[in-house]
Amino acid sequence: MCGIVAYLGDKQAYPILINGLRRLEYRGYDSAGVALLNEGALTIHKCQGKVSDLEAHVNGHGHQGTLGIGHTRWATHGPPNDINAHPHQSTSGDLALIHNGIIENYAPIKEELRSRGHVFHSDTDTEVLVHLIDDIQRSEGTDLAESVRLALESVVGAYAIVVLDRKNPDMMVAARKSSPLVIGIGEGGEHFIASDATPIVEHTRNVVYLEDGEIAVIDRQHGLKIRNIKNQVKTPFIQELELHLEALEKGGYEHFMLKEIHEQPRSIRDSLRGRLNTATGEVVLGGIKDYEQKFVQAKRILIVGCGTSWHAGLVGEYLFEELARIPVEVEYASEFRYRNPIIHEDDIVIAISQSGETADTLAAIELAKGRGATIIGICNVVGSSIARVTHAGSYTHAGPEIGVASTKAFTAQVTVLTLMALMIGHKRGTISGGRFHALLNELDAIPAKVEAVLRNEAQIKYIADIYKDSTNALYLGRGFSFPVALEGALKLKEISYVHAEGYPAAEMKHGPIALIDEEMPVFVIATKGPSYEKVVSNIQEVKARKGKVIAIVTEGDTVVQGLADHVIPIPETPEPLMPLLSVIPFQLISYHIAVMRGCNVDQPRNLAKSVTVE
Ligand code: F6R
Repeated sequence: MCGIVAYLGDKQAYPILINGLRRLEYRGYDSAGVALLNEGALTIHKCQGKVSDLEAHVNGHGHQGTLGIGHTRWATHGPPNDINAHPHQSTSGDLALIHNGIIENYAPIKEELRSRGHVFHSDTDTEVLVHLIDDIQRSEGTDLAESVRLALESVVGAYAIVVLDRKNPDMMVAARKSSPLVIGIGEGGEHFIASDATPIVEHTRNVVYLEDGEIAVIDRQHGLKIRNIKNQVKTPFIQELELHLEALEKGGYEHFMLKEIHEQPRSIRDSLRGRLNTATGEVVLGGIKDYEQKFVQAKRILIVGCGTSWHAGLVGEYLFEELARIPVEVEYASEFRYRNPIIHEDDIVIAISQSGETADTLAAIELAKGRGATIIGICNVVGSSIARVTHAGSYTHAGPEIGVASTKAFTAQVTVLTLMALMIGHKRGTISGGRFHALLNELDAIPAKVEAVLRNEAQIKYIADIYKDSTNALYLGRGFSFPVALEGALKLKEISYVHAEGYPAAEMKHGPIALIDEEMPVFVIATKGPSYEKVVSNIQEVKARKGKVIAIVTEGDTVVQGLADHVIPIPETPEPLMPLLSVIPFQLISYHIAVMRGCNVDQPRNLAKSVTVE
């Protein structure tokens, strides 16, 4: 979604802003813009399209200045066009503002400001902020920081903003509520602001994460000062970034998504490191230690998430039921938050989110927290909003995921859920010691088995080539493989724009079977396990209707080999761990089909990496 970058220092801001906007491209956007202050003049450039279009638009003119703000917009209010792009400017021409989030009460504010002579140009909710701050500055005679604070008092919604004032050429003011902002503190008084650390890491490792309701004032003379919306002074807490620049580069791969698919042996290993000890037969999850007993005694687990994280949650349901014998309900965060869900104080709510910023998941957490449940987070981004609002949690150590389609985050989430379910099941005595130890050893062996699956890429690419022009696809799985079927279908949809549906294999005959003809590829997970024979029957049903079957099978399988059009063998592993292997061929199939169809794999149309609006 929208991205923010800002700079104040002694270097030229424009190249830093453009580079920062490029780092933010992964979030998904449809227009971009910058504002620069130079010798008392405020210059704004903005246009629909990519950062490269913005550069062409600037074309070497009016890009001077050592103070500037930049933005990538993902359209919510009003279509993607030049006028709706940020920065927005006050009627006086003095202020420029960029904004992530949504101002819910923008309509009445807009009406009021219009009646006071402010001229609106865009369809955006954001534009009210810049006029409101300007209005307060003029009517109250307050300085920029105080005007921002007073303006935000009357705003309902989510925001991360940065504002410049032509009359204050040595200052920028930023504020956040429910939308993240990071401030980088560089050498010689230079400061950076960004919606995440990716534009900052190449300049400095010292950062301050702004808290909700805080307003940061950065000026050349006094550096960084923070107040909250109630005007109380806050002491900035400077932390060292864990992020490394190499993690933000493609490292020789054609796309981030391909790099991230190939990183999975490493990211799963990193998510296990220090937690799984096969020698002592222990699972230690330090982040949830204080809540372990509550977890062990839980009568019910609720899992909330969206998209791929919700799919990981579904795998979690199978894991907790199977290994810890605790009833589990998996909820779309967006539905859960608007129902009147029954939540008990002894419920454990697991919130899963790669970005840690998903608006619906955050709201679901707040709801469950308000009703007394214990919230455990599974997040990838350290210091993210969800990581901070949960009672406890375990990070996935997948490293930054830049490709919009989630791959390594999914397997890292499932890895952490597996560790949790094993640990809780062991402590509850719901799995035998023998099975517990065997599963620990098998889990330890998963990264090497993922490597083995990845070595099959050439064959998977060959299959992708055969089905690249299909307009529909069906994904089938049973048991632990059902969520993987959903995830496989989602991957194909989102990056190659091919319509795909995931189903529990047995559900096929209750409707989707009507779709099957000789044009229809059906991807089936038919690995060895309790429902193997049943899946084989489902494959027969597809073949009887001339569908094309691409089956993921356990190495050495000959039965499915004789039935399916193509088989993709993967190493043997116990059923609860199978999703960690069976999802990999689906990721690769989607990737290669998308590339062959000429799609923008890392930044698929309409999608955003971090969905910070509901
Ligand atoms: C799909 C994908 C999305 C996200 C969803 C939740 O590839 O990436 O479906 O999984 O938007 O995002 P997080 O995990 O950041 O809460």
